[in-house]
Amino acid sequence: MTSQIIPVDPFDFIIFGGTGDLSERKLLPALYHRQRDHQFSEPTRIIGASRTKMDDKEFRAFAKKAISDHVKPEYIEEAELKTFLDRLSYITVDAKSGDGFGELKKSIGDSKRIRVFYLAVAPSLFGDISDNLKAHKLVTPDSRIVVEKPIGRDLESARALNDIIGDDFGEHQIFRIDHYLGKETVQNLMALRFANALYEPLWNSAHIDHVQITVAETVGLEDRVTYYDKAGALRDMVQNHILQLLCLVAMEAPASMDANAVRDEKLKVLNALKRVNGNEAPKQTVRGQYRAGASAGGPVKGYIEELGAESTTETFVAIKAEIANWRWAGVPFYLRTGKRLASRVSEIVIEFKPIPHSIFGESAGPIFNNQLVIRLQPDEGVKQFIMIKDPGPGGMRLRQIPLDMSFAQSFDGRAPDAYERLIMDVVRGNQTLFMRRDEVEAAWKWIDPIQNAWEGSRQEAQGYTAGTWGPSASIALIERDGRTWHESN
Ligand code: BG6
Repeated sequence: MTSQIIPVDPFDFIIFGGTGDLSERKLLPALYHRQRDHQFSEPTRIIGASRTKMDDKEFRAFAKKAISDHVKPEYIEEAELKTFLDRLSYITVDAKSGDGFGELKKSIGDSKRIRVFYLAVAPSLFGDISDNLKAHKLVTPDSRIVVEKPIGRDLESARALNDIIGDDFGEHQIFRIDHYLGKETVQNLMALRFANALYEPLWNSAHIDHVQITVAETVGLEDRVTYYDKAGALRDMVQNHILQLLCLVAMEAPASMDANAVRDEKLKVLNALKRVNGNEAPKQTVRGQYRAGASAGGPVKGYIEELGAESTTETFVAIKAEIANWRWAGVPFYLRTGKRLASRVSEIVIEFKPIPHSIFGESAGPIFNNQLVIRLQPDEGVKQFIMIKDPGPGGMRLRQIPLDMSFAQSFDGRAPDAYERLIMDVVRGNQTLFMRRDEVEAAWKWIDPIQNAWEGSRQEAQGYTAGTWGPSASIALIERDGRTWHESN
């Protein structure tokens, strides 16, 4: 099945941090793919902007390498690549002093084209860049600004950042990106819930026993030492990606896919999350930090050795969350995420309640609860685990099997990266898959008390061996309630 491509209007795409890691690994390759799939209209331009001194030619060489490193060779055609590189230019700018913004203005000219200012830079520069864009009169009605997480490190700093950007751009122009919302299966979650009559009547505390959300990674610190050690897993993954997934599972049906209709419903979920206070934190949360072990096929260092300094930052979090509303009262949401875990897997497990009464004798074997497993990565798809009779002439024996709906074949050979979808949404001005200001702040309101409880009580990060599923306390967290983590391998 090939998806239908609807071209977007011509646009100027300005990447602050154009020579950085995000630009190299994600943005330039995503833009290349969108061009190759004929989604651009002409003239569309891409302008790299950063402090590095470079000319157009050098930026094109950087982009060429980015594409050959991060796009599969079968998608790189010489003519296509040339067209792409021809639309690139570069300007050296200094976000602090404002140097270069005048030149940027000259380069964009008076065009009425859509302008996308993508801030692929440290959040400490968001305010300066935003203010400079305003001061140099670069912000037109058709401009949008895209900011990457983290938006702040707590509620107060998030508010301050939102205020600064909000002074320069209208909320309808601000795109707070959470790339998890661009993942195909995450959007499929909405299709599954709201385009099928099957699940919605069961989607509540009368039928669902609990929900698990796991985002497990095998990577360690990578090259993000300074950022990660200040953030930790709670801020880096739970405040945004995991809470967004939780919202999509738990929200009421919005009236439409209109951006505000969807975001209003997500906000209600965030506001209904039960605060975890200082007394509850040790029972409802687990912090972990990886020690030396084996991961991704070889021995790996522990977090502290990798960092080269003492640190109490957590690289693993497990939380038992509760949503205090009619639909979800009494249904725990077990959340966990970590680095250097046993495998790279992101999935949502909806476990249904047990059948009320079994008509089968003991010889039929155990009857497992139905589970709906929504796999975000790898092997995107949905599995509905059901009980069936073990085939054959023997007696009545029951077996659990998955009804397997893998999405892999429907991608016509290539699973588009989340950024491709999200960047095109920015150009179109569609904010449905972006976080609104109040959502980000509501998420911090739930995260801050946990972070404060950890700091106040010195709840330590418990060591776990790299390549395992995290500290044993995470297993205890769910087993105390008579449940187990879904085996994700
Ligand atoms: C980022 C986090 O937002 O998401 C990283 O900052 C993490 O720490 C990454 O590795 C995971 O994204 P993905 O798409 O690889 O699951």
